[in-house]
Formats: sequence, C-alpha cells, structure tokens
Amino acid sequence: AQNRLLIKNGKVVNEDDIVEEDVYIEDGIIKQLGRNLIIPGGTRVIDARGKLVIPGGIDPHTHFEFEFMNTTSVDDFYQGTKAAVAGGTTMIIDFVLVKKGESLLDSYYSYRQKADEKVCCDYALHVIISYWNDKVFDEMSILCSEHGVNSFKTFMAYSFMLNDSELYSAFEACKKLGAVAMVHAENGSIVFKNTEKLLAKGVTGPEGHELSRPEEVEAEAVNRACTIANQVDCPLYIVHVMSKSATIALAQARSRGVRVIGETLAAALGTDGSHCKNTCFQHSAGHVLSPPLRSDPMTPQYLMNSLAQNDLQLTGSDNCTFNKSQKEMGLNDFSKIPNGVNGVEDRMSVIWEKGVHSGLIDACRFVAITSTTAAKIFNLYPRKGCIALGSDADIVIWNPNKTRTISAKTHHQAVDFNIFEGMECHGVPEYVIVNGRVCVDDEQVKVVQGHGNYIECPVFPPFVYDIENASKLKPSDNGDANWVTQPTQKENDRKVC
Ligand code: URP
Ligand code: ZN
Ligand code: ZN
Ligand code: ZN
Repeated sequence: AQNRLLIKNGKVVNEDDIVEEDVYIEDGIIKQLGRNLIIPGGTRVIDARGKLVIPGGIDPHTHFEFEFMNTTSVDDFYQGTKAAVAGGTTMIIDFVLVKKGESLLDSYYSYRQKADEKVCCDYALHVIISYWNDKVFDEMSILCSEHGVNSFKTFMAYSFMLNDSELYSAFEACKKLGAVAMVHAENGSIVFKNTEKLLAKGVTGPEGHELSRPEEVEAEAVNRACTIANQVDCPLYIVHVMSKSATIALAQARSRGVRVIGETLAAALGTDGSHCKNTCFQHSAGHVLSPPLRSDPMTPQYLMNSLAQNDLQLTGSDNCTFNKSQKEMGLNDFSKIPNGVNGVEDRMSVIWEKGVHSGLIDACRFVAITSTTAAKIFNLYPRKGCIALGSDADIVIWNPNKTRTISAKTHHQAVDFNIFEGMECHGVPEYVIVNGRVCVDDEQVKVVQGHGNYIECPVFPPFVYDIENASKLKPSDNGDANWVTQPTQKENDRKVC
C-alpha cells in the first residue's frame, strides 16, 4: 500500500549515532524503529542491507524562478524540487524576492502562488529585506506570526544592499521577533568601485568577476555584519561563506562571543575559481556566482575542513541557475553576467565525495551539515532533520559504494550547464522517500508535482506578537534561536565510521 513502508536491514544514521534498525512508516510519519517490528500485512518492504538510511537533505538556500539581474533563473519550483529529490534532498528553503519599496506580504503571497502547486517536496520560505522602514517591521511581524516565516535575508552588496544603519534595524527586528537574521556579506561599495575601474581598464571578461570582489571584500563584510548583529544581541546566519578569509573572520567573531552561523555551498566544496579563467566564455561565465569561487586552489578543502571542525555549520546549494544564453548578457561586461550556479541536485553527492569519501568527515557529520543543523536553525527539528519516532518520513537510502558521474546531459535540472560536469561521485540516493512516498525508486525518479507542502517555521519562543507594541519590546522580552554552534559531547566522543 502507498501509505505503508518498511525499510529493513539498513544502518540508520543520525547526526549523533548510527544504529542498525528497521524503519516503519505510515501515512508519511515514522511510526516504529527497531528490529523484528510487527507490521500490518501488505506493507511494502525495501531492503537496505549494506546501505545507509539517512534523513533527507534540507537545502536551506535555493532561488527558483528568481527575478535577478534583468532575467529569471530557469529552474522553477517544479524542476528545482524534482532535481532536489533526485539528488536526495527532501526539503528546500527558498528566498522570497522583495523588490525595493514593494510589500513583503504581497511578495510572499506571490511566491506561495508560484510554488504551492509545483513543489515535489516540502518547502519553506525566507523573505528578503531590500529596504528599510517601519512598515517593513510590521510586515515582518505578520509574516512571523501568521505565515510561518522565521528568517529574513539582507544584502550588503548589489543595488538593493542595506547600509549599516539599515542592517542594524533589520537585525534588531529579527532579534525582537525571534527570527533568524541572514546576510549576504560582501562590501557592495567596494565591488562597485572595483568593477568601474576594471571595466575602464578593459577587463571585461568573466575573469574580472573575482578581481572585483576579492576575499578581503567578503571578509570585511562578514566582520562588519557580525559587529552590527552583536550590538543588538542578534544571532546571525552568514549565507554562502566562500573563502578562507571569510571563514577566519567568522571564527574570530565567534571567539569574541558573537553568535554566528556559517553556511557554505556545494559549489565552493566541489569546484573552484580556476574555471572562471577558462578561455571559453560559456564555461567561465557558467561558474560565476557571488561571492565568487576562489582562485586559491586550497579553498574547497579548507572549507570542508572548516565544516569538519564546526568552524562552518552547514551547507546549501544557492541554486540560482541561468542558461548559457542568459549568461551571454555579460559577454562584453562581466558585471552583467547573471550571478548563480546549480547545486540543488548534486549537493549531497558532492559533499559525500569531498567530505566522507575523502575521509575528512564521517557519515554523522554528513547528516548534520546536509540536514539536521538546517532543521535546528530554522526551528523544524525534530519534525525534520532526523530519523526518529514521530518525525516526517523524509528519508534517503544512500548507497556509499555506488558511483555516478555528474553531467548536464543527465541531470534533472532545467539549466543547460553543470559546474560539476564530469565529476565522479561515490554516494548515490537509490531510494528517496518524501513524506512517506517513494519518489526515487531504485534510482528511478517518480516525483509528483504538488506533492510537497509549505512548512511553517515557527519563531523561537517566547514570541510576543503585538503589532502596536512589538517595536517597543526590549531584546530580552523574546527568546533566541537555539543556536548549535558547538558540537555536543556525544559528537566529540564519536568514532569515525
Ligand atoms: O550569485 C549568487 N549567489 N546568486 C544568487 C543570489 C544570492 O546572492 O544568493
Ligand atoms: Zn547571496
Ligand atoms: Zn566551453
Ligand atoms: Zn543565494
């Protein structure tokens, strides 16, 4: 029967433990765990002998159908979530674009309208703050209290960047609401000046992209964002940490008591900035995102080590894909190349290959950085991010011994390019179970459009919703995010499997 499933003989991996046990699922929920379970007749049985049974990936950073840099990203909520599921990710969190001056609520409603009927897996939404005034705060309050939005992204670069005082207000608002403050950390003013200068000198190709936004421009912004957040006692989530310098800035901020989470990307772990110097425009432009892939060839390994040591806490894809024809908008001016790359489908395999297969992290840490930590930060744990009684049945049967080769020719994404082209990865999601339904069945993708649900992310308690008085609340009136920045005792004791 469609609604009953038993996964037998596998090794169940959670962030803190690996246990040989069977998993019984009914109506989309994990109902029993253990050996010799008594289950109803007619239940479908999947044999997971020799394989790992892991929580489905949670990708906290996607941009489907994103209107950006005068075009729209090509993976929509159908194709994007289909690709996610094909790769072992069972939930994504996307960013609601709010254009300067426009209503946060209206933007949110239009995203719900676009996404609800298309998504093949569960999803939630962060909302972008692209300008600041009192009405923004009121709309944030409503999004938190009535719509299950508990995270807001700010930008320190691009035309819709906030200045320091606006960042201060936005972070303070997050603190008051018990929401997660997120930031794209690059010094936008320096990027504008550098870009002007490079173009004037005739540096117009994709190689100019990283030159215009070097590591220290990222690190400066990380440090400044941490300082501002700390002034209002707001925990901070730095999206897409792309460099060694930025990771060090983050660790230094943490060592002086700033509560900050660092997310890095599959792109940064699986490829590097050398591709942006390729003489083929399609190839180099295809690797352009911001902050850039770094030309220091040690960067991917440095970032993976930082994940291993918990100097960085989790991974996303930042999937924001543009076809070759769209990338051509920047043929004569690198600053017009739409910024963004793929990753929603390949994130799990790339991280397994570069992290677990290469021996830098174990399977438990893999689960933490691809799923559990995101669930905790966005207050969805233990409903999501673990295999436990009562949790949603979002599960992957992972075969660590099988390999696959990544290619745009075979991927499930809409985009016509893949930054991981030709990479051979150990680790294949043989079965992907989304809300109890087998959506990858012995490697055959069988997603259902609209099967996913919008997941409300509650703010961190105690939450006081009072639109008249919310702006008068003192920081201490509300609780904080349950930031997990240090490994637990259990994690420290863990042996590498
Ligand atoms: O280049 C990128 N990262 N594109 C997506 C938008 C963003 O800044 O995350
Ligand atoms: Zn960004
Ligand atoms: Zn080429
Ligand atoms: Zn992004």
